[in-house]
Amino acid sequence: RVSYVNGRYVPHDQAVVHVEDRGFQFADGVYEVLPLVSGRICHLDQHLDRLGRSLGALAIARPVPRRVLPILLAEVVRRNRLADGLAYIQVTRGPAARNHQFPVAAVPSLIISVWPTKAVTAHQLENGVAVVTRPDQRWKRPDIKSVGLLPNALARQSAKEAGAVEAWMVDDRGMITEGAATNAFIVARDGALLTHPADQRILAGITRGNVIALARAAGIEVGERPFTLEELKNAREAFMTGSTITVLPVTKIDGQPVGDGKPGPITLRLRALYAELRR
Ligand code: PDD
Repeated sequence: RVSYVNGRYVPHDQAVVHVEDRGFQFADGVYEVLPLVSGRICHLDQHLDRLGRSLGALAIARPVPRRVLPILLAEVVRRNRLADGLAYIQVTRGPAARNHQFPVAAVPSLIISVWPTKAVTAHQLENGVAVVTRPDQRWKRPDIKSVGLLPNALARQSAKEAGAVEAWMVDDRGMITEGAATNAFIVARDGALLTHPADQRILAGITRGNVIALARAAGIEVGERPFTLEELKNAREAFMTGSTITVLPVTKIDGQPVGDGKPGPITLRLRALYAELRR
């Protein structure tokens, strides 16, 4: 396995950054996870646009011009002879003597790696997966795809310990924002397809945006409005979206079945439409 680190392709076990990299000391960095399908990166422009927004929001300099990133990505994919999987890009503000304020002449670190996908299992697809709800303990800008993922990691670990695959986070208003690493959708009691609006409280998932567009094109109305824990517990269907899973049915919330406890028709339709989009 070969990874790209600051201008060099190195064996993955030698892919290291400096101990005083600000990504390591302050989580002062941003990242993207991109799907790789049949040797091609999907939704490349959407991911690079979002990376640009994350960098801009934190005033981190671009390590290379945007047009160079697809070339580096393709080279890492080629060197790993990987057809299907995920690509990871991380940019940090770079190494500097530890000091909270930004260093004067920071040289950003750029890391690119790839790995094979841990595919969704047939069992998960057929039966859907379990989700638990947990308090949203993140900072107030989860719209920035920063590597400061400790609250997300704690929520995901807590979900795993509860026998679930994901934690859906409930904020101070009692609204479901999103999952630890996925966006949350429900088909409400009245049939409306709902997901939290892409404001500062959630990460605007690429899959989320594409699913909304696909649904609307198929004549399914989508409401981008927050929904409550109560609405979630009364939902007909629920699903989560993300680059690693596309559309995954959720059939259990906090131990209770969603609707009839089986993956719902709208969920399965959107999953099928998404598979076509990626082909
Ligand atoms: N997670 N919400 C959060 C908090 C996320 O971290 C992610 C992505 C998503 C889904 O976004 P997208 O559809 O663009 O993958 C939503 C990545 C995959 C991760 O951290 O591994």
